Amino acid sequence: MKNIVILISGGGSNMAAIVRVAQQQDWAGRHGARVAAVLSNKADAGGLAIAREHGIPTQVLDHKAYASREDFDAALARAIDAHAPAVVVLAGFMRILTPGFVQHFAGRLVNIHPSLLPAFPGLHTHQRAIDAGCRVAGATVHLVTAELDAGPILAQAAVPVLPGDTAQTLAARVLTQEHVIYPRAVLELVLQK
Ligand code: GAR
Repeated sequence: MKNIVILISGGGSNMAAIVRVAQQQDWAGRHGARVAAVLSNKADAGGLAIAREHGIPTQVLDHKAYASREDFDAALARAIDAHAPAVVVLAGFMRILTPGFVQHFAGRLVNIHPSLLPAFPGLHTHQRAIDAGCRVAGATVHLVTAELDAGPILAQAAVPVLPGDTAQTLAARVLTQEHVIYPRAVLELVLQK
């Protein structure tokens, strides 16, 4: 079985979308792939309950319990490696990862970012797109490399920026498209493994 490990920090709607599509499309039966575990750096991440409802093992590693970023990332890598994953999915995992961590999972570490990269890496992407007067915004699925939000692009979706949009209304419009492109991109990557 090809294992997928998903890392979250919050609501986990992208994780839930991947889990839902994997079940609907029977990834286990058709592709020998399954979401093996959901890991969070926050104990109160809403997505943990969703994962448990689907019978997926969860684990919390609180980054504040570690002395350094390197220590946390080493513990996180060990927890992930316990599932021998084909693909590791960052789904709203709001941590900057060390080069050693990224190198360890190179080629099988994927992220979704809420902008049309290379525009707007980093935080507050929707407000920045509105402030820049963009007429389109969107989301990008990309392989993770040492440089923040800069790895090879696997998939993108665009949505209009509408008059009167706030960061919240734009984020919601983008998020619905994230839920479409991320499960598809994850499956494509898994099938290459
Ligand atoms: C998503 O919009 C994702 O693109 C973004 O966080 C949200 C998580 O939502 N990721 C980043 O900003 C990464 N820097 P979710 O927890 O409901 O999937």
